[in-house]
Amino acid sequence: MVPNSNVGKPFKIPLFETYFDDEDIESVVGVLRSGWISTGPKTEELERAFAEYYGVHYALFVSSGTASLHLAYLAAGINKNSTVVLPSFTYISTLTPLMWIGCRFRFADIQSIEKPVVAPDTINEALKDDAEYVIYLPYAGFLDGIDHIKKFCDDKGVKLLEDASHCHGSCWNGIRAGNLGIAAGMSLYANKNITTGEGGVLLTNDELIYSRAKLLRSQCITSTSFERYQGLEMDYDIVEIGYTYRATEIQAALGLSQLKKLGWTTERRRELVGLYRRLLEDVEEIVIPFEDYRFSGNYIFSIFSKVDRDALRGYLFEKGIQTSIHYKPLHLFKAVGREVGPLRLPVTEKAYKMQITLPLFPTMREEWVEYIVGAIKDGVVKIKHSGK
Ligand SMILES: Cc1ncc(COP(=O)(O)O)c(C=O)c1O
Repeated sequence: MVPNSNVGKPFKIPLFETYFDDEDIESVVGVLRSGWISTGPKTEELERAFAEYYGVHYALFVSSGTASLHLAYLAAGINKNSTVVLPSFTYISTLTPLMWIGCRFRFADIQSIEKPVVAPDTINEALKDDAEYVIYLPYAGFLDGIDHIKKFCDDKGVKLLEDASHCHGSCWNGIRAGNLGIAAGMSLYANKNITTGEGGVLLTNDELIYSRAKLLRSQCITSTSFERYQGLEMDYDIVEIGYTYRATEIQAALGLSQLKKLGWTTERRRELVGLYRRLLEDVEEIVIPFEDYRFSGNYIFSIFSKVDRDALRGYLFEKGIQTSIHYKPLHLFKAVGREVGPLRLPVTEKAYKMQITLPLFPTMREEWVEYIVGAIKDGVVKIKHSGK
């Protein structure tokens, strides 16, 4: 295993630590030795491997998760006249491509602290009469209940898309991300369960969505550089105005070898989450969302604190434990707030005030989980005594 440079600087336990083994390194070096580094055969190999793993007909490798969502939205037909419903309790990239497209969007509230995802009734409220699309975020990788969302969307005649960035390794009722809506985008950013440094994948079963997204990925040029390099094409046309959302063969090679590790890294995450949950079971000041973590890839371990969240994070910081927040609701950010105006999403806002993300990564040791839970228990007692 390659020693990681961020360990212990400045935290005893970081929020996340990347993991690369010799196979990852050899894969990347192999691409450099091959001499072909832009989109080519490794990209196609990665796309086949992702399509097989997720059980979808098509996968498209692109330069970022945001790019995968942008292409999924465009290829699914979202345009400036569309109206789209999405959660505010998500990362900004679920929304930014919609703002680039210039469509109308509305936020749906999450259902509860225990299930911090949008639900049919909260979506219904935001749909009004005109929305045609819903974007769903399986928070922390929990796909539970997405069948209800799908049924609801089908009944209403609205199209469902997934931001599946948290869903590497998730499998619920035998179904993986990418199969519930008409298309999904997912991130392979450095802190995801598997990574290509930067990168993303669009998953779909729809041939038209796939081929349109593929065209848009590379400036809507009708032949690729690799095809011309191989002598398969001599010329090209540009049939629409597209984007440069290609990823490199270096990223593809890393993604392929990372995907091979997803089985054991997911298992390890589940063991660690199981330990966290057991040790926190009797701490009534902490709410752990969702019931069954065994079907999630557990991208993050998210808890909700009934005692002052910032005081508890501060206490953990003093103990050398890095934490984060998933998420500050999008409508509370300046750039989004000015678009949507004053808006109340009571459950989303309550969840935000209570939420803490604890360290979780496959190379984490059991003692570190014990240390973190010990610090939470001490912190809760101290904060309660201080009257917060
Ligand atoms: C929920 C969610 N959506 C989208 C993205 C965007 O991915 P990227 O940073 O690869 O563009 C992320 C990445 O962190 C994410 O967590």
